[in-house]
Amino acid sequence: FDTVDLIRTKRDGGVLAEAEIDWLIDAYTRGAIAEEQMSALAMAIFFRGLDGTELARWTQAMINTGERLDFSGLSRPTADKHSTGGVGDKITLPLAPLVAACGVAVPQLSGRGLGHTGGTLDKLESIPGWQAKLSNEAMLRQLEDVGAVICAAGAGLAPADAKLYALRDVTGTVESIPLIASSIMSKKIAEGTGALVLDVKVGSGAFMKQPEDARALARTMVELGGAAGVRTVALVTDMSTPLGLTAGNALEVAESVEVLAGGGPADVVELTLALAREMLAAAGRDDQDPADALASGRAMDVWRSMISAQGGDPDAALPTARETEVITAPADGILATLDAYAVGIAAWRLGAGRARKEDPVQAAAGVQLHAKPGDRVTTGQPLITLHTDTPERFGRAREALDGGWSIADASVPERTVIIDRLA
Ligand code: URA
Repeated sequence: FDTVDLIRTKRDGGVLAEAEIDWLIDAYTRGAIAEEQMSALAMAIFFRGLDGTELARWTQAMINTGERLDFSGLSRPTADKHSTGGVGDKITLPLAPLVAACGVAVPQLSGRGLGHTGGTLDKLESIPGWQAKLSNEAMLRQLEDVGAVICAAGAGLAPADAKLYALRDVTGTVESIPLIASSIMSKKIAEGTGALVLDVKVGSGAFMKQPEDARALARTMVELGGAAGVRTVALVTDMSTPLGLTAGNALEVAESVEVLAGGGPADVVELTLALAREMLAAAGRDDQDPADALASGRAMDVWRSMISAQGGDPDAALPTARETEVITAPADGILATLDAYAVGIAAWRLGAGRARKEDPVQAAAGVQLHAKPGDRVTTGQPLITLHTDTPERFGRAREALDGGWSIADASVPERTVIIDRLA
């Protein structure tokens, strides 16, 4: 095949043949197609899209570039969750042990954060001793013994995606529904989970700002999963304001532990339980009640075993920031808005996130909220606490929050966390 011909085909709105897609993805992964050519093709796909047949083949070709894990030898069914990313989205932390406590194994291969959304591994690494890297054998053993594992996705799963995602990141081609759907689903299908629940975020803090776009992405991924034999369900959930009251690594771990202890913010508990019910149903265990597993402490027991199994000390004190600054309410009223993107950028600037892949993150940095939209606030009360080890960052974090929240006289419409469900 001639790469330039394939680029022209897509540029002009044509359809790529299955053999062309197979060749293209394989050749690109082997380094036989130049980055500038793949970048032109990605931009053509951004404008022209991929039809259903092209997308299924594209996803399969990405899977074929790497290994596939096999959990069929486990004594229990498997279910995984994937979130498209949001601010304060720590749901994986309480969810994985909760679902495992209900008899379904959870292989949660996760990543690090880049930009304003945090990464699950960065959060867990704030627990002293905890290790993200496991061999495939260790992961399988932990799934059998503990039931839940959250670890780094090895380089062996869909290597085409790692290369293509890095290229998209620097060529303005991330925000394409077929490219996002194939990127996420290639990794999840290669991972070998039996059931998959997708949490597709919508709002200022998410990739998808409009509900129609989030629904389209959700529908595309549900179809890809189903076609590959993975029972896939998607919830479309709100990311206009952060989840819970924390954004930042150790801050989010502490909040997750509160949820496992039976407390925690209502929205985090609601979404954790909803996703747990979906995962249990998709894995054929809807006889189980996750609310009971939470209330009885069984989910907390699994959390402790899961952290210990990866070298972490579940009883160790979490790191705290050297410096904090408080933003207080300038007036009495109702907190009307608290923008997810503004909070995400502030947490990132405080040191919770990274600008480049190789940057370190601060375990203790982040944003702590003292009120959520709809809450009554009084003049002078703390609204937001900024945490960092490097106080020169406070100024830029405050700037990010300027205009990111507002106080009104009248009540505001109640927020709906779960906006839609697609199966
Ligand atoms: N997450 C992914 O893994 N891939 C994308 O393309 C976007 C978000």
